[in-house]
Amino acid sequence: MTTNVTNEAQISFRKLWASDTAALKAHLLRLDPESRRMRFGTPVSDYFIGQYAQNALGGHSVAHGYFVDGVLRGVAELRGFRGVAGGEAEAAFSVEKDFQNRGIGTELFGRTVLAARNRGISKLFVNFLSQNARMQAIARKFDAVVTYDSDGGHAQIEAPRANPLSMWKEALTDGQDIANSVMQTTTRALRSA
Ligand SMILES: CC(C)(COP(=O)(O)OP(=O)(O)OC[C@H]1O[C@@H](n2cnc3c(N)ncnc32)[C@H](O)[C@@H]1OP(=O)(O)O)[C@@H](O)C(=O)NCCC(=O)NCCS
Repeated sequence: MTTNVTNEAQISFRKLWASDTAALKAHLLRLDPESRRMRFGTPVSDYFIGQYAQNALGGHSVAHGYFVDGVLRGVAELRGFRGVAGGEAEAAFSVEKDFQNRGIGTELFGRTVLAARNRGISKLFVNFLSQNARMQAIARKFDAVVTYDSDGGHAQIEAPRANPLSMWKEALTDGQDIANSVMQTTTRALRSA
């Protein structure tokens, strides 16, 4: 996917690792109050976000990030799975306000569904506040069944079984992402030298 924020901005997507914990925390802290409430389903404190970010990456989670000029501006987290075929998992998304409505959430959603599929997850859940029209719009693009109750909206996506092509697609995307990320880091270092 190619997305231009400005002519000069360097855009990249890649998986996040435990070493991205500080960047994740900074991203979540930059969410405007409404986006923060939408992300966590309720207003949360900076302290809560710090604690949350500390434990979010690694273990039983796969996270994808969207970077602009090396700064993490959007995140998709897939978590709660235990490597059991046919299992279930939950996903959560956050894109900073200045970057919303540009297709980033949709791109992160697609990568998350593929990651879920390749880890044997058959049911993917996304929970959101009832008024979250954007999240609902994205979920419907992926044929989610969306229901509402007193807790809010719940999207359920049936992930198809993994096959060699789906595994290859994720591996190829990861390889391209890493190459792109390294190239951009090098370019920024040369620019500032
Ligand atoms: C929800 C969120 C992740 C979506 O990311 P995004 O990058 O803004 O989303 P996209 O641009 O990919 O797609 C948004 C879609 O919603 C649609 N949309 C926007 N406003 C809408 C509205 N008021 N009513 C209906 N649809 C709307 C857009 O048209 C777009 O659909 P399209 O691509 O078919 O045109 C992002 O807005 C966000 O971080 N919000 C705060 C946190 C949050 O709500 N997280 C979800 C709960 S875990």
